[in-house]
Amino acid sequence: MARLFNRNFIVGVTGSIAAYKAAELVRSLIRDGANVRVIMTEGAREFITPLTLQALSGHEVHTDLLDTEAEAAMGHIELARWADALLIAPATADSIARLVQGRADDLLGACALATPAPIFVSPAMNQEMWAKQATQDNVQTLIARGIAILGPSSGSQACGDVGAGRLLEPDDIVSAIAEQLSTGALAGRHVVITAGPTREPICPVRYISNRSSGKMGYALAEACINSGAKTTLISGPVSCEPPAGTTVIEVETTQQMFAASMAASATADIFIGAAAVVDFKPATVSDRKIKRSGVKTMNLSLVPNPDIVASVAGSESRPRLVVGFAAETHDVQAYARKKLASKSLDFIFANDVSDQSIGFNSEKNAGVLIGRNSEITMPMSSKRVLAESIIRELSNVLG
Ligand SMILES: Cc1cc2nc3c(=O)[nH]c(=O)nc-3n(C[C@H](O)[C@H](O)[C@H](O)COP(=O)(O)O)c2cc1C
Repeated sequence: MARLFNRNFIVGVTGSIAAYKAAELVRSLIRDGANVRVIMTEGAREFITPLTLQALSGHEVHTDLLDTEAEAAMGHIELARWADALLIAPATADSIARLVQGRADDLLGACALATPAPIFVSPAMNQEMWAKQATQDNVQTLIARGIAILGPSSGSQACGDVGAGRLLEPDDIVSAIAEQLSTGALAGRHVVITAGPTREPICPVRYISNRSSGKMGYALAEACINSGAKTTLISGPVSCEPPAGTTVIEVETTQQMFAASMAASATADIFIGAAAVVDFKPATVSDRKIKRSGVKTMNLSLVPNPDIVASVAGSESRPRLVVGFAAETHDVQAYARKKLASKSLDFIFANDVSDQSIGFNSEKNAGVLIGRNSEITMPMSSKRVLAESIIRELSNVLG
């Protein structure tokens, strides 16, 4: 099973004798479906060549912070944003100490500071180094900051000692990460998500639609699946791959999305309206292609479509949480707050689609998750990382 399907991993390799195990680790992550980019510290390159990890990951290994070529393509900020997770394995005592200090004088440290993605650290060192108070204090500091420490395990060491400090086996690292990323916080819950645009036919060949790519809704579905939820995705026409395990209901018009949403949300704990529905549809649909010849002006009379998210929020079998999206071009938050109140929503995610770097069709997004009494700013990150943050908040509220 590809537990890490399409997740972007940075693997940071540091100068431990266990660096050779990074080769197996990269293979194991890829076997589990992950996309992997490798960063090697100067120390790591004394133990294993970048060529090995380049061949295994299928991408050039990143080594230098100040690399003009890399900055043009995938510099440290790009790399940090691209990541869905940063795994430092093996992590030396020194790299752990630098993480604690927040040092950014090499590429790995800079990425660790710049990434909004979760960080996993797999220590590997001599048992005496591991047992030292300095190392233990550093590890506790990282844990307190939310960084997951995987291992080390105990046993005989390369230096001849026996004790704790061995790098966990690569497959065990990957399993631990897969388990932690799928938190199970929504196990036993049913989440219904709408995604993508809708289409309103004018005639058999033309329609009204919008620029929605569906990426945000699909990322939310993936986050729900990873949290153990039964997940129903009601999707307009998009080219995204649904995550394995999702129940997909394909629709075209807003009316079809409305009908599917009302039916599916009757058994849902959470309903998330992430689709960009077409609010108005032609009053009449021609059953023949409308010809151009002889037409000087063409008037299209439009009538409103049902308001899906408001209807779900107002229904008798209302899910416990109803969440809307406000993709706006101006007065984003003010409009979102109005929408939250007027549609009786529990949360609304407000984002500014006039910003070309986020929103429609972009791989990234940023915004504010507004609740009735709360407001959480979510900085620019991949839609997947953002989706995980949103789902984490919602599952906390559900309890
Ligand atoms: C042969 C050899 C093996 C080493 N193995 C480890 C190790 O397993 N763990 C560790 O924390 N440091 C180890 N070190 C020390 C690190 O390489 C050293 O602290 C280095 O500065 C780490 O750099 P980096 O963290 O930037 O990669 C080793 C050093 C040598 C010479």
